[in-house]
Amino acid sequence: MKGPQPVHNYSTTLYTSSCSRLLVNNRWRLIILALSVIITFFVLSILIPIILVYVIETNPTEAPMTNDTTISTAKASTLTTILPTTTTTVYTTVLSTVSIGTFTSDEIVETAHPNTSFPEVETTTAPLDSSETQSIVLSTTERMTTSVSDATMTSITSTISIITSANFEDSSTHIVTPSLPRPGDGLCSAATWARIGVTVAGLGEYGGNLDQLRNPSAVFVDENQTIYVSDNANNRVIKWHIGDRYGEIVAGGNGLGANQNQLYGPRGIVVDENGTLFVADAENRRVQRWFRDASTGDTITSDIYAHGLVQDDDGSFYISDRARGEVVKLLPNETVGQTILSLLNHPYLMFLDRYQSLYVTDRDNHRVLKLENGAAPFSVVAGGANDGVGLHQLNGPEGVFVDKFETLYIADSYNHRILRWPKGKISGDVIAGGNGPGAQFDQMHLPTDVTFDVEGNLYVSDHNNHRVLRFAINKTLC
Ligand SMILES: *[C@@H]1O[C@H](CO)[C@@H](O)[C@H](O)[C@H]1NC(C)=O
Ligand SMILES: *[C@@H]1O[C@H](CO)[C@@H](O)[C@H](O)[C@H]1NC(C)=O
Ligand SMILES: *[C@@H]1O[C@H](CO)[C@@H](O)[C@H](O)[C@H]1NC(C)=O
Ligand SMILES: *[C@@H]1O[C@H](CO)[C@@H](O)[C@H](O)[C@H]1NC(C)=O
Ligand SMILES: *[C@@H]1O[C@H](CO)[C@@H](O)[C@H](O)[C@H]1NC(C)=O
Ligand SMILES: *[C@@H]1O[C@H](CO)[C@@H](O)[C@H](O)[C@H]1NC(C)=O
Repeated sequence: MKGPQPVHNYSTTLYTSSCSRLLVNNRWRLIILALSVIITFFVLSILIPIILVYVIETNPTEAPMTNDTTISTAKASTLTTILPTTTTTVYTTVLSTVSIGTFTSDEIVETAHPNTSFPEVETTTAPLDSSETQSIVLSTTERMTTSVSDATMTSITSTISIITSANFEDSSTHIVTPSLPRPGDGLCSAATWARIGVTVAGLGEYGGNLDQLRNPSAVFVDENQTIYVSDNANNRVIKWHIGDRYGEIVAGGNGLGANQNQLYGPRGIVVDENGTLFVADAENRRVQRWFRDASTGDTITSDIYAHGLVQDDDGSFYISDRARGEVVKLLPNETVGQTILSLLNHPYLMFLDRYQSLYVTDRDNHRVLKLENGAAPFSVVAGGANDGVGLHQLNGPEGVFVDKFETLYIADSYNHRILRWPKGKISGDVIAGGNGPGAQFDQMHLPTDVTFDVEGNLYVSDHNNHRVLRFAINKTLC
């Protein structure tokens, strides 16, 4: 910060009315008393908010990194924000320690990654108002819109230099990196799904060919609608590109065994941004890592009956140990995890939402647990009312997905249905299956996992039908 610092002056002039004649009776005294109370009330109700605003402005807190991100021009910082669809708004808050200026388009210089035609920068035309906030709207171009929604441009990096020279000098460079689109981004609370599913992986026959599955367990769909399946009884993880009949082995597939090129009863899977696969190699009691296109894996932790597996933003893993009834957290620099939750009755697959809350299916307690920030204590967020077919009950849930509204989608395995369970509700509604165990396309037989693609189409790992079903989303009511 250099240069002169204009000062904010809050001045209040109080006008006092004077009475020109003597007041002689109590009625007038009462009226005057009432009037002073009312005036005092109004003065306070104006002053207190002003004081509060001032206090808040002078005590800035770190803003949450959302797509509408508040940044301070007082420091050159790295801003990571989400470019979700067509536009994103960056609010530049001028803090009280920084003088107030007016940004004009000329003063905002933007440069872009050479391969992109980056947003034209538009500023709001109004000068900074008393809320001291200037919004800069980055209007995305046609190409970027298409690319982001097609998930073909996930690594765009653009630099926006905000150079202000009016009343002060400050230059901050902010790197804007759109995050990867997330599964389920397209969901809304009123969405429905086709009652009839289509088979998108496996043929529904028990077998070991590349167009077959044997008891699929976990399923994950990336932003390109590539489906990853832990093909439990085939001891492999296999992926299907959209529309393909034949899958491609990503890990294992070399027979049952404990060598580094083998898996034994794989369960939970994590696929990171580089296509590196992490797999809960349950019967081998270990977690394996397979880099993209590798022919062998390596062990990141062992001595754990790993069933559920998720990874947080810091690179730590949460692993459910089905045999010990525990959930373990494994830091990125460690090979032995710490138990963070115990005394569960067969914890199966888990989910870590975008707010870093961990959800655990506690299968034989017929409930789903939530751990805020991935730490105990837990709360029961679905089920927990014995096993049963009521809409407030679950029966042996094995998989869960949670969207940005914190609505749960539960593979209610022994009820052969998928339930949607909004946050804070005591019951759910059936969005797929629920027509008894069977192999028709409105049925499933032991669904073990549920997930979504970016658009919100629903995918179900139909364990005993040896297939993955896809139910198209219907956004008419969204
Ligand atoms: C992020 O952007 C999306 C799409 O523009 C919008 O619906 C959503 O409300 C934004 N999120 C926040 C936290 O503002
Ligand atoms: C830019 O585009 C060219 C041609 O499409 C490509 O070869 C190159 O790798 C791209 N550069 C980056 C940094 O993505
Ligand atoms: C999705 O497809 C694009 C374009 O083919 C590719 O660059 C990107 O790596 C793919 N994403 C994943 C996770 O494989
Ligand atoms: C993905 O690969 C890039 C380039 O090698 C690396 O910088 C980044 O850390 C990797 N991401 C993860 C999650 O490993
Ligand atoms: C791993 O990192 C954590 C904190 O980041 C630290 O407390 C711990 O000692 C480290 N463990 C090892 C084995 O270095
Ligand atoms: C989508 O939902 C709407 C409203 O419930 C319904 O009228 C319409 O038939 C549905 N479309 C499909 C393709 O199922």
